[in-house]
Amino acid sequence: MRRYSRITGTGSYLPPRRLTNADLVAELGQRGIETSDEWIVERTGIRARHFAAPDVASSDLGLEAARSALQAAGLQPTDIDLIIVATSTPDMVFPSTACILQNKLGANGCPAFDVQAVCSGFVYALTVADAMIQSGAASRALVVGSEVFSRILDFNDRTTCVLFGDGAGAVVLEASETPGVLSSDLHADGKHVGILCVPGNVSGGQVLGDPVLKMDGQAVFKLAVGVLEKAAHAVLAKAGLAEADIDWLIPHQANIRIMQSTAKKLKLPMDKVVVTVDQHGNTSAASIPLALDHGVRTGQVKKGQTLLLEGVGGGFTWGAVLLKL
Ligand code: ACO
Repeated sequence: MRRYSRITGTGSYLPPRRLTNADLVAELGQRGIETSDEWIVERTGIRARHFAAPDVASSDLGLEAARSALQAAGLQPTDIDLIIVATSTPDMVFPSTACILQNKLGANGCPAFDVQAVCSGFVYALTVADAMIQSGAASRALVVGSEVFSRILDFNDRTTCVLFGDGAGAVVLEASETPGVLSSDLHADGKHVGILCVPGNVSGGQVLGDPVLKMDGQAVFKLAVGVLEKAAHAVLAKAGLAEADIDWLIPHQANIRIMQSTAKKLKLPMDKVVVTVDQHGNTSAASIPLALDHGVRTGQVKKGQTLLLEGVGGGFTWGAVLLKL
């Protein structure tokens, strides 16, 4: 009998410090950086974001989200036999945030590793966990997206610092006789490294290069809308389903205009799209599991429904996962 994987619990966590656009406008104003609520809302749809305290790391946010997902699945940390964390803001250069999270959770012994695909990280991590469950290498996986993007923002660059926030989301993915994950489609094109990157690195005991986020927003926007449509159609074709079969589109929450454009291309009304970008900003690899958990806990997204998850981010990376909840 074929082995599938299925999400059995979701969880998420946002650090308590919430900044509305007005709060951010006031803080940036003190640095002489001009922006406005109107500009941010009109160009991005973002109204607020959360920032973690200085002593809080990705593993801390991920831990809260993981505990909540485990509770929803009715499992203990020791039931887990695989941990994958998608993050571009790891606690340290090494070991992985997954190992640090594993220890905080008390799930020691199972394989644990990070996936680095920036804002596509969660769809990459979910696809890897699904493949490991299908192959029999794992049976109960914890897949986490966790970020403290506030650490890598340049607060003197108004074109990027207004866009991002911190947070974490998690799912428990278990082996199942019925799907679950129906299909996935992952891609990367490294020739676009320069349009979205944090070019700094650690060398000889120093940070070399600029360790803050750089983005060509318009180039990212153009690439994103094209590849997201292709990935969506690819997963539908692989699963033998049509656009009309999608109950919910749960996209990476970067910008409401990218989400509206993707929904339009898939002929989906916006009331079939889970939107959290207005309240969370762009939380990179955390945004999809955060939006999924928001949808589940508000009662919008229900068991048995067909969900299209899709992400796009630095690399350039992109991908989609089609699943039945
Ligand atoms: N407040 C006020 N004015 C601003 C701000 C700001 N925060 N930022 C830029 N401006 C100004 C610019 O200086 C420019 O002024 P000018 O016309 O006098 O030169 C004007 O606004 C327009 O700037 P554009 O860059 O052309 O604005 P655009 O409409 O392209 O919107 C944005 C910028 C929101 C970044 C858009 O390009 C976008 O959303 N791109 C996609 C970004 C994205 O999704 N990134 C995440 C990818 S996921 C990941 O991997 C991290």
